[in-house]
Amino acid sequence: MKRAVCAAVVGGLATYFALVPVAVALLPQGLVWKEPPAPHATATMRASVYLTSGDESVMDVRPFPRPVPNAHQVLVQVLFAGANPVDFKFRRDSLWPIVPRPKISGFDFSGTVVQAPPGSAFKPGDRVHGMLPCPFHSWGTYAELVAADEAFTAHVPPRGMTMQEAAGAPLAALTAWQAIERAKPLPAGAKVLVHAGAGGVGNFLVQLAKANGWHVTTTCSAGAALCKALGADVVVDYKREDFERVVPAGSLDAVFDCIGGAYLQKSMRLCKLSGTYVEILNDGLLDYLQVSSVTHPLYQAYFVGQFLYYTLRGALGLGPAFKRGVVQANGEQLAAVDALVAKGEVRVVVDRVFDGLGQGARDAHAYLATNKAQGKVLVDVTR
Ligand SMILES: NC(=O)c1ccc[n+]([C@@H]2O[C@H](COP(=O)([O-])OP(=O)(O)OC[C@H]3O[C@@H](n4cnc5c(N)ncnc54)[C@H](OP(=O)(O)O)[C@@H]3O)[C@@H](O)[C@H]2O)c1
Repeated sequence: MKRAVCAAVVGGLATYFALVPVAVALLPQGLVWKEPPAPHATATMRASVYLTSGDESVMDVRPFPRPVPNAHQVLVQVLFAGANPVDFKFRRDSLWPIVPRPKISGFDFSGTVVQAPPGSAFKPGDRVHGMLPCPFHSWGTYAELVAADEAFTAHVPPRGMTMQEAAGAPLAALTAWQAIERAKPLPAGAKVLVHAGAGGVGNFLVQLAKANGWHVTTTCSAGAALCKALGADVVVDYKREDFERVVPAGSLDAVFDCIGGAYLQKSMRLCKLSGTYVEILNDGLLDYLQVSSVTHPLYQAYFVGQFLYYTLRGALGLGPAFKRGVVQANGEQLAAVDALVAKGEVRVVVDRVFDGLGQGARDAHAYLATNKAQGKVLVDVTR
């Protein structure tokens, strides 16, 4: 493990300053959002806004300009906002310019269309859900209104999905969907390991992996019963036993890792040489470096270096393929997940719903930060 850490740090430092500007310039198009036009100065809405980074107390209900949708966007009256760990990480860390201030928290929404462009697949009154793309804008879904790209939005199925479930699905389900795609093709019966199967993303990973006919082992603790109910074949309580002792070395076709940090090296050993390791980008690596912010150059260098080290190792056939990515907003993929939910093949598990854009939003962030959520956490924006 020390060798991997050293190689990652040295490689990362060498390439960080040369490659990061190039990498940013080459960001996938899906990350570049069509920002709504400049908002009307006098028309405002209520939103959960933070002006600076810090603990939950920096978030408060503030008047914010109403979004004015562009020619590719629908204006949606939000009912529920889905809360994700990225919400509190963006609030907690100084990530400018990735996260400009002021910032409305939240990426996931469900609600009703109030305005749609001519010729749109959506019309006023339609029940919809979706996610905003992640970086570089001040908008968010803990708000009364959101301007959402049509391409990132889907109709909520008339049967089989509540508006709460609809708000919980987008970011987590798309993360899982895209992670599964990265590991394909795999035959039926392929052995996969999902870390944190009880969490928001893990719930979808377990279910989508089962829908593909794979054999799923997952790690969790309090969420063991939930993971079993979602179809996991083997559940390892990470507080009682080491998953390395349960899963034979070199036996896995794919690993989906929502934890990172020490889990990465450990789980790599369990993967076949021909297998795929999909890291659901997270900040578990911070555990190693004990740095306070992901903006720290040492962290970033390690992050870049680790990616290069494992990617190169995989490409040379010296280790499993290594894949890491940021979730992309995608209305078509969301509709495909919705179809599975409507058929009863996938469930959206709602853990808790917090009321209101003030204390409710702050409590949702605090609850997520405990790292104990089982399924999805929501904010009821109408309260
Ligand atoms: N790459 C991306 O674009 C992307 C997208 C979404 C999420 N993420 C990241 O992925 C991570 C997971 O997101 P999430 O929404 O699923 O989080 P979450 O719902 O807050 O995850 C909480 C779950 O993690 C489980 N857990 C905690 N420590 C664990 C451990 N050591 N081993 C196994 N399970 C453990 C807990 O299970 P028990 O209570 O049973 O212990 C709990 O159910 C976060 O870091 C998030 O930021 C990245």
